[in-house]
Amino acid sequence: MERPLRPLHPFPDGWYVLELASDLRKEQLIEKTWMGKEIVVWRDRDGAVCVADAFCPHLGSHLGPSVGGMVRDGKLVCPFHGFEYDVSGKCVGARDAPPPRSARLKLYEVAEVNGYIFAYWDNAGRAPEWHIPDVCPDGWEGRVLKRLRLRAHPQTTTENSVDLCHLAHVHGYRELKQLKPTKIEGPFLSSSYEFRKGILTPGLQRLEIWTAIDVGVWGLGISTVEVHGLEPNIEVRLWIMATPVDGDHIDYSLAVDPVDASRWFRLLPVFIRQRVVPKVLLNDLVLEVGRDAEIWSRQLYQPKPVLSRADGDLFRFRRYCDQFYGAEQAA
Ligand code: FES
Ligand SMILES: [Fe+2]
Repeated sequence: MERPLRPLHPFPDGWYVLELASDLRKEQLIEKTWMGKEIVVWRDRDGAVCVADAFCPHLGSHLGPSVGGMVRDGKLVCPFHGFEYDVSGKCVGARDAPPPRSARLKLYEVAEVNGYIFAYWDNAGRAPEWHIPDVCPDGWEGRVLKRLRLRAHPQTTTENSVDLCHLAHVHGYRELKQLKPTKIEGPFLSSSYEFRKGILTPGLQRLEIWTAIDVGVWGLGISTVEVHGLEPNIEVRLWIMATPVDGDHIDYSLAVDPVDASRWFRLLPVFIRQRVVPKVLLNDLVLEVGRDAEIWSRQLYQPKPVLSRADGDLFRFRRYCDQFYGAEQAA
């Protein structure tokens, strides 16, 4: 029998990824489920993105494309009676009558940064007090991405980054060393490690790597891992992002950006360096997550875990997480 993942609240406050920015064209409309709610995401003619609850304030039609919702002349058009909404959520058009002034979509704050579309969730409906830094000043050319639907909680998946003991036991990392102590600044957490591990390259042999990594955590939805390969010298950034769907599942987005393609395996042809290597690394990341996912899907959250000395900064991580449950704890 599947046990609920509670007692953690399923939807911590924070920024969560919805889509690759390049996957939402101008005048395109998509529908999704996040935080147990149905939402629509669309771009107007000028490129502005809007994320809104999927139900029309008029008579409640679903606004998604599967029901007939569309973006026309830069406005979201309801499939039922044709009310039109702009990206501010305001009703700006209705058939045969002036648009009702109080008809407004319920919007979520949006950030388009680092090549992704993020939206902000807050259980008490507060505006975000922090923003996602731009860590891709050089762009994200060559990014590869995979999205998995997993039964897991975003705190559990994020905890992975500081759970040193499992890195050795589940993933086989060797000679694991923490290079810098875990640092917490408000909603940002960072940590650095060094280790050796094997990568299974499909159809190729096992590649041994020795690497230093800088982990960045921006709330429970977004983590990055900057990989500074020592042997071989690979410079890539991994994105590991969890977006709650329905209270039991997350959409887990895994991406690899080549940060400095010129340094990669200098002897390999450019095509291999730029196209194949990110795919190999993404494949390895997906395999690693597969091992975690089996555990996450049946894991019971222990609010008071019994830790060993090898557990690293788990308690500090748990205290860091408290800030994303502010509204529920106050309730
Ligand atoms: S329900 Fe949307 S216009 Fe009537
Ligand atoms: Fe893991």
